[in-house]
Amino acid sequence: MATPSRVRVRAHAKINLTLRVRGIRDDGYHELETVFQSLALHDDVTCALEPGPFRLRCDDAGVPTDERNLIWRAAQRLWEKIGRRGPVRGVDITLAKHIPMQAGLGGGSSDAAAALVALSRLWAVGPRVDLAAVAAEVGADVPYFLTGGTALGLARGDDLYPLPDLRPYQVVLGLPGFGVSTGEAFGWFDRDRDRTGPGRTRAAHASIIPAWPGRQLAVFNELEAPVAAHHPEIGTLRQTLVRCGARAASMTGSGSTVFGLFDAETPARRAARALAAHDVVAIVTRTADRRACSGAASTAAR
Ligand code: C5P
Repeated sequence: MATPSRVRVRAHAKINLTLRVRGIRDDGYHELETVFQSLALHDDVTCALEPGPFRLRCDDAGVPTDERNLIWRAAQRLWEKIGRRGPVRGVDITLAKHIPMQAGLGGGSSDAAAALVALSRLWAVGPRVDLAAVAAEVGADVPYFLTGGTALGLARGDDLYPLPDLRPYQVVLGLPGFGVSTGEAFGWFDRDRDRTGPGRTRAAHASIIPAWPGRQLAVFNELEAPVAAHHPEIGTLRQTLVRCGARAASMTGSGSTVFGLFDAETPARRAARALAAHDVVAIVTRTADRRACSGAASTAAR
């Protein structure tokens, strides 16, 4: 098969259906046990072979397009892994941004994973390069986005075990008017734990949902209570979603987004309107299965 000169990959958002913090690791990171779920909501990452210095452009002026962007770091890492020296060059990357930032939806990590998939095709990177290992060096959440779907994440979230695809749900995302940095959320969690003592689960809310044929899942997030203590809007948002008929509602990741799972689109749209009435930006999307997210399915090459 000829090597393409341009590849576009969808970078799907995720939510955390469950998130338990198991302890602190020697490297300072928190040991997690989380169930990731992909959403249909996605960014588009287009990579093209173009002579000259590395270039990253984005249609959203709020997105950094320099070394701070995980796409850049992913490209540099892969460049070095295939034996090239110096700063990465010869690629032009365009990012069409739809996933809100600092929202717990994994947008930056997903963009980086999509760039790895696209660049590995453009540069004809063979199986000798372990893309998952490169992804883990870029960020703890990045390896999950190489496959997506429903998956259990252990360690920093990068020790991954695919689960059967969750039954489909409509998903309403409520975005409060502030972001939460991951480091800050874990810091608040640690301070709470120091007060209450180890071993207590801090997930204040759990909702049981039908998840797989004959199987249920408890949806919860242990980071929610410490984040909501600093941002009470999180609790209000969750209660509004439940009142509007969500099967389950919870904060995702380290926040600030709160998601609600709905059986059908009509109540989901109604819930989104209720959030908008409270000046909360609401996005209606749906869960996406592993096949919809896999690099091969989402790649268009020319
Ligand atoms: O993964 P990321 O670099 O975005 O994480 C930012 C910060 O969040 C880390 O430096 C760390 O303090 C904290 N963190 C953590 N445990 C995790 C993930 C992030 O303590 N599993």
